[in-house]
Amino acid sequence: MDRPVTAMKVMVAGAGAMGSQIAMVTALAGHEVTLYDLDPTMLESSVAALRGRMDSQVAKGRRTADDVDAAFARLTTTTALTGDVDLVIEAIVEKLEIKRQFFTDVDALCGPGTILASNSSSFVPSAMASATERPDRFVNLHFFNPALVMRCVEVVRGPETSDETAATAVAFVEQIGKLPVVLDKEIPGFVANRLLNAVRDEALALYEGGYAGIEAIDTAARTALGYPMGPFELMDLTGVDIGYHTKMGRFAETGDPADAPSATVSALVERGDLGRKTGRGFYLYDDTGARVGKAI
Ligand SMILES: NC(=O)c1ccc[n+]([C@@H]2O[C@H](COP(=O)([O-])OP(=O)(O)OC[C@H]3O[C@@H](n4cnc5c(N)ncnc54)[C@H](O)[C@@H]3O)[C@@H](O)[C@H]2O)c1
Repeated sequence: MDRPVTAMKVMVAGAGAMGSQIAMVTALAGHEVTLYDLDPTMLESSVAALRGRMDSQVAKGRRTADDVDAAFARLTTTTALTGDVDLVIEAIVEKLEIKRQFFTDVDALCGPGTILASNSSSFVPSAMASATERPDRFVNLHFFNPALVMRCVEVVRGPETSDETAATAVAFVEQIGKLPVVLDKEIPGFVANRLLNAVRDEALALYEGGYAGIEAIDTAARTALGYPMGPFELMDLTGVDIGYHTKMGRFAETGDPADAPSATVSALVERGDLGRKTGRGFYLYDDTGARVGKAI
């Protein structure tokens, strides 16, 4: 990589929920960013949504209009894959074969110094790096949603990621104002989601074993452990179906019953009780989204 880590050329691939915000964070930090997506309407709508968000931050005095305008001047969109960049951050659809094809294509276009990074939540670096000729310059940069707000970025090293690549990835994450959490060895789920899932699994086991009710378990998590939200409250907020599908995906891969969704979560998903978004999950919500009682 020839350019300094303070002024790089970065391509963010995928203009969805994650890619659009990663592109904005990167442009705000002074980098020249190309946001790439196959779908031109996604590019248009995501830039319009970013503009709305940034305008509201300017109105609240959190950013200056000059900083925001300068960032948008550094942010361009395209439906044509480009290789003239120092860093590629991939945030396209979570399908391994599509990601592997993307990395094979972009690898062929990029110069030898370019670092390739994936924001994938479930695929480890080696599963994608093997589709390229540069596994030493491949790393996962796992941002959290919403990427404009959340400070943690997991920097996941694959077995062939070089020390230089890991060091550049860490320097980039710090430069854009985030906090890098380095995984020296890859493992599915990385750190944060593994911790989250372990707490969630234990909460469900305690409830299903009849040891304590959902409110009691949530109260313990909040008042004894200092969590901002209990595990059942959080599942209702993010959507009960999200955790269900993640577990089903893992179960399909391993066939291990321990990886399958719990009976309670499966029953809620079958009934369509998906949490706040449907007004009913572990708890009941009124039309304003306020919690009004227990649902199970
Ligand atoms: N949503 C989250 O909370 C979250 C959090 C962390 C990481 N991630 C990861 O980020 C990635 C993207 O997730 P998302 O929620 O932003 O997805 P999304 O569905 O909102 O957006 C995906 C975008 O990728 C585009 N796309 C699909 N195939 C493409 C291709 N071959 N080339 C170019 N563009 C293509 C789509 O048009 C779409 O705009 C996934 O790998 C996911 O695991 C998501």
